[in-house]
Amino acid sequence: MKIFITSCIPEIGISLLQKKYNVKVYNKPGPISRKQLIKEVKHCDGIISLLTDKIDKEVIDSMPNCKVIANYAVGFNNIDVNYAKSKGIIVTNTPDVLTDSTADLAIALALACARRFVEGEQMMRKNKFKGWHPKLLLGMELNNKFFGILGAGRIGSATAIRAASFGCKILYYSNKRNEGLERKTGAKKVMLNTLLKISDIVSIHLPLNIKTNQLLSKDKLELLKPSSILINTARGEIVDEKHLIKMLRSRKIFAAGFDVFDNEPNVNPALLNLKNAVLLPHVGSATNDARNAMSLLTAKNIDAVLSGKTPITPV
Ligand code: DGY
Repeated sequence: MKIFITSCIPEIGISLLQKKYNVKVYNKPGPISRKQLIKEVKHCDGIISLLTDKIDKEVIDSMPNCKVIANYAVGFNNIDVNYAKSKGIIVTNTPDVLTDSTADLAIALALACARRFVEGEQMMRKNKFKGWHPKLLLGMELNNKFFGILGAGRIGSATAIRAASFGCKILYYSNKRNEGLERKTGAKKVMLNTLLKISDIVSIHLPLNIKTNQLLSKDKLELLKPSSILINTARGEIVDEKHLIKMLRSRKIFAAGFDVFDNEPNVNPALLNLKNAVLLPHVGSATNDARNAMSLLTAKNIDAVLSGKTPITPV
């Protein structure tokens, strides 16, 4: 059976599949073009896709033998899951294995914003540090602050647990109550507007779907306090990025940490000039630990489906 992998993921998953299957890996730099993708998947029984591969009706229709799409990501907004299902194709993702890496990064961004890392870094590299000063780069400490989590799933909860260990008071917005998180951190479930009005730091951990697309609209963003920090390690489309930029520029919020953007890989040029924005290139899961585990999990999901077993992490 044939497997197509749309990028060179860590070797561990590829070699597992190579023991049983005919595996082809697209190993050119950058994302595969749509034309090439449609050509490559034609005779495949399974594919491993990236979040940058749009697996829509046209792509799904071009792979009549495919039984499994294993997305190398926890998010699967790049795949038309319902259409895949209607064609009898199982879609899997990579939850759990990237939780710690992504939660670490959310906290790193919160600290980078709170302590003005970017400004400090730039000052040093431009040789502009002229000595200790009582008012140099004053920021905010995390202890005793309200840390609001949007989405109290795996990554949101792991971020909340980290924030609680810094002394933060946890608020969360979620459609389900998370009693485990409440027990561990004393977190309180609140309405979205309440969370936005009260929180000193807001961290987004929601999947992107019809309900969450632009959830943080202009009106919602305007509820944030001028001293607040917004962190997004989920998906850029959840936030009205243009309005957020306006608020950052006019100091209507203190800072924002972006690991994801509205129109990746393009970044709104206005963001590049903002000192109170910390920008990272979508690296939430970018640790060897997480990426090796993601590779192995996608391979195991492919093998399970093609061997007639239940996949480990179907979506
Ligand atoms: C995901 O998995 O959805 C992240 O955005 C990348 O690892």
